[in-house]
Amino acid sequence: MTANKSVYLNGEILPISEAKVSVMDRGFLFGDSIYEVIPVYGNKLFRFEEHLSRLQNSLSAIQLANPHSAQQWLDIFNSLLEPGYDQAIYLQISRGVAEKRDHAFPTLTIPTVFAMSSPIEPFTDLNKGVKAISVDDIRWQNCYIKSTNLLANILLRQQAVEKGCAEAIMIKDGYLTEGAASNVFAVIDGVLLTPPKSAGIIAGITRDVILELAQIHSIPYSEDIISLDALQTASEIWLASSTREIVPVIELDGQPISEAAPGPLWHTMNQLFQDFKKSLS
Ligand SMILES: Cc1ncc(COP(=O)(O)O)c(C=O)c1O
Repeated sequence: MTANKSVYLNGEILPISEAKVSVMDRGFLFGDSIYEVIPVYGNKLFRFEEHLSRLQNSLSAIQLANPHSAQQWLDIFNSLLEPGYDQAIYLQISRGVAEKRDHAFPTLTIPTVFAMSSPIEPFTDLNKGVKAISVDDIRWQNCYIKSTNLLANILLRQQAVEKGCAEAIMIKDGYLTEGAASNVFAVIDGVLLTPPKSAGIIAGITRDVILELAQIHSIPYSEDIISLDALQTASEIWLASSTREIVPVIELDGQPISEAAPGPLWHTMNQLFQDFKKSLS
């Protein structure tokens, strides 16, 4: 990331090296903040309304008023775009700067709004697939909030990385929730399965697209709970997120999945997803 990269902070576009936030910002002190990641394909924001609606859900959940209208958000994001490559807008809103460090909400604060755009790096190992481990989901109950409190997620992802794996797949009370930074799909007995949104997960936008494509193309699918035992019998496992798209898992906890190669349904879905992306530009 270059020092002269332009970012948005509280109404200004400025070089990232000059974008500064107070140490009294509640995002810094408490993680009292939420975020969004919006992919941009062909210089167009992908599923802008859906991302805005998830942003609103996160803001409402932490009782923070939305500081901008849809049009204002659009203007801010568009001002950060650089044509020519796929990118992702990162947006973070904190409850702002308070005079003293106090857990209770301050009566008057102005939210801190930060946004930047970064290139989406194509996932180099897509056709090889990745390895994953299963881990205990040690997070709190409100995982539908896109909170910047990602300590559990980063600790679990780090465990995966240290074992040569790309993702930690989280299990709560014996059932799959999601990856440290992805939703998870499994193909079991020929049916594409993913846990329901009520299962303590982020309502992933990529997840929605996959389910829509499955419906349109008559691929049998279901939003259903998946036990770790069932996951271990899956013929395919995929990870889904805006920045990595759909990634096949070829090994879980050291055991091969789909003969240690991306499975046939992944090839089909990945093609449908790439065609869908192309159709937008
Ligand atoms: C915990 C978690 N679940 C799911 C997702 C996927 O969401 P989306 O497809 O909207 O990127 C993410 C994205 O980063 C995530 O962090």
